[in-house]
Amino acid sequence: MKRVVILISGRGSNMERLIRAERQGELAQAQIVAVFANRPEAQGLVHAAAAGIPALALAHGKYPDRESFDAALIAAIDRHQPDLVLLAGFMRILSDGFTRHYAGRLMNIHPSLLPVFPGLHTHRRALEAGVRLHGCTVHFVTPELDCGPIVLQAAVPVLDGDDEDTLAARVLAQEHRIYPLAVRWFVEDRLRIDGQRVEVRGRQQEDALFAPRLA
Ligand code: GRF
Repeated sequence: MKRVVILISGRGSNMERLIRAERQGELAQAQIVAVFANRPEAQGLVHAAAAGIPALALAHGKYPDRESFDAALIAAIDRHQPDLVLLAGFMRILSDGFTRHYAGRLMNIHPSLLPVFPGLHTHRRALEAGVRLHGCTVHFVTPELDCGPIVLQAAVPVLDGDDEDTLAARVLAQEHRIYPLAVRWFVEDRLRIDGQRVEVRGRQQEDALFAPRLA
């Protein structure tokens, strides 16, 4: 059994999806042991607590600088002895020390097809750039923002008439598909990081599932 800690900042729909995946046996090798938020008002905390998972906020504003917040967060997380830490809509840049501490066991979901559109406002930027394909990426986290080895991506078409909200919703539906799958691969020990690339053992069948569906 692999122990999983999830970090959120807001709504927490990816976290909810991961909890459901764990409860429904999609993540048979995983146990979600704690959820932390950097904002006390993060709605996802309520859902996690209702699911019986220890859920706690560490308000980053109460710490003098990034390093002291990250040190407190590491201490809180490590009390749960995690094998894997998941950023799920965690909207705060982490220090190099934090990412190094969890090297190889820290994953993020990002709402673009990295390496395009790292950072914020990815849907708006995709619309402005006129791309016809957009999507989401699960990747291991390294000190450079949104740049770590890619585990899994899903693409969606950008349709005429899309606005930020319609595009975000189409991408989010894919986030909810690929994050649990990437986590399953991790907890089943099927991932091997080789430089910037991630090798996935036995993935042919699932590959077919994540081909973009173009209208
Ligand atoms: C997701 O689109 C995630 O990729 C991005 O922020 C959003 C968080 O959504 N980083 P939720 O909190 O999981 O609902």
